[in-house]
Amino acid sequence: MDEVSIDRERRIRRALDHLRNNTTDQMEAPSTFVAAEHTDAGLAERERDLIFGRVPTIVCHGSEIPQPYDFVTQQLPRNKVIVARQPDGSVKTFVNLCRHRGALLEEDASYTGCGRARLFSCPYHRWSYNIDGTLRTITRASTFGEVDKSQYGLVELPTEERHGLVWVVDAADATIDVATWLGPDMDSILAGYGLADLVNARAEGFDEPVNWKVMQDAFLDGYHIAYAHPNTAAKIIHTNLMAFEDFGRHCRFVAPRKTIDKWLDVDPPEGESLVPYVTETQFLGPCHTLLKQPDHYQLLTFRPDPVHTDRSWMEMRLMVTPQERSGMTPERWTKLWDKNWEILLAVLHQEDFPLLRASQTGMASRDAGSMVFGRNEVANQVFHREMRRLLAAPDHEVSPPLPAISAGVTATPATATPATS
Ligand code: FES
Ligand SMILES: [Fe+2]
Repeated sequence: MDEVSIDRERRIRRALDHLRNNTTDQMEAPSTFVAAEHTDAGLAERERDLIFGRVPTIVCHGSEIPQPYDFVTQQLPRNKVIVARQPDGSVKTFVNLCRHRGALLEEDASYTGCGRARLFSCPYHRWSYNIDGTLRTITRASTFGEVDKSQYGLVELPTEERHGLVWVVDAADATIDVATWLGPDMDSILAGYGLADLVNARAEGFDEPVNWKVMQDAFLDGYHIAYAHPNTAAKIIHTNLMAFEDFGRHCRFVAPRKTIDKWLDVDPPEGESLVPYVTETQFLGPCHTLLKQPDHYQLLTFRPDPVHTDRSWMEMRLMVTPQERSGMTPERWTKLWDKNWEILLAVLHQEDFPLLRASQTGMASRDAGSMVFGRNEVANQVFHREMRRLLAAPDHEVSPPLPAISAGVTATPATATPATS
């Protein structure tokens, strides 16, 4: 086994010990928050600018735009965008807006198949743009008057493809450096996952009447499983049990699946891998949860609505080994991921979303009071700690250059203190 595998096995054995002792990793203390953090329009605007306008987030897996001239559209918190594969294989992101009089250039193209265009052609007065965003044609140019075409190309956002994922900072004047944002720990974790060799087997977006942080919190939460998902997820995974690592901006934790119970009374043999018995979850700040399941990866994304504080856009992606390399027939491969996808959708729509919508309506109460994350809600604490830190950080600390922050520098580092939970 290499170092990475040995480290993973150690963490899983720590989770197994927690299971045996009815304990979990914890933060040093509970932390409080107020309902207004999920309803205040001024805070939402600051989040769009100071978080999403300064740090990279994932807009798609590279396999969603495999060929030159493929593109997808996205609604980001600050801008509507087109993400397009260039002839040289790189990716560029443009604000989805014609520089003549602001018409929307491309309608929705995502999830169920990307768009494909040699050029972007405006439906209003038919100006056109090359795939690299430069303005190509002004129609009836002889009557339009003198215009410097080089000044009216599409507005470009900083974009980088790394670890098979396309990352964008949602502000034209920002810079991007994904490796620095991830930090050495998370960057090497993602490198080890080989996500670039996978394909996006299924993807879908959901417009929910819930603040994005309420959504993100629910998918970093191992505490609710037995109560909110008694007949689905709770049959597969243990509740309130995490072996956790805090990387500052990001964190990860392993949670044991029920199949690990066979090792409760007998120690697994030395050298036996316990990877098939856990789900390993990465919180990729500010708005992603990446779950490593035994045979696939699931990427969840939560974006604030550009206008409404109590709305957000969630995306779910299933990244898997391509059929040709899976050893499965096309029929079996399709059936397997269809079935997985249906189960995930059912849990989302029938169990998580109704709870979270109700939660958001509760947050609107004028006298909601303060609420609290427990010591056991480790990833939620990291998420809120880091969002507050970004909101408070001056520009020069965020972009450019982004500071590398490692575990332990921040106010409440994780501890592995056992708790009687
Ligand atoms: S708005 Fe696009 S060509 Fe006029
Ligand atoms: Fe849930």
